[in-house]
Amino acid sequence: MPVIDFAPLGVKIECEEGKTIFEVAKSNSIPIAESCNGDKICGHCRVQIIEGAENLSEPDFDEMKLMKEKNFSQDERLACAVKVYGDVRIKTSYW
Ligand code: FES
Repeated sequence: MPVIDFAPLGVKIECEEGKTIFEVAKSNSIPIAESCNGDKICGHCRVQIIEGAENLSEPDFDEMKLMKEKNFSQDERLACAVKVYGDVRIKTSYW
């Protein structure tokens, strides 16, 4: 099973393949900024991918739209949209 390394927190969590980073964080009481409850509307749940970008789902239409509107950098993804299929290491500005 894939492992998400919430790097600055020193927390590594094993998860089911296909879960979103948002779902895994929420179900393990890891704070994720949001105001749309994971509906791909607010853009606040952005995370930076340090390693393992190749193990994530491709951006869907909603994520692409928000990434463009919110000026995401190339290594940023929307935690509520991105699905995990292998190990990944991430961080945010507030951890
Ligand atoms: S939680 Fe709002 S876009 Fe992800």
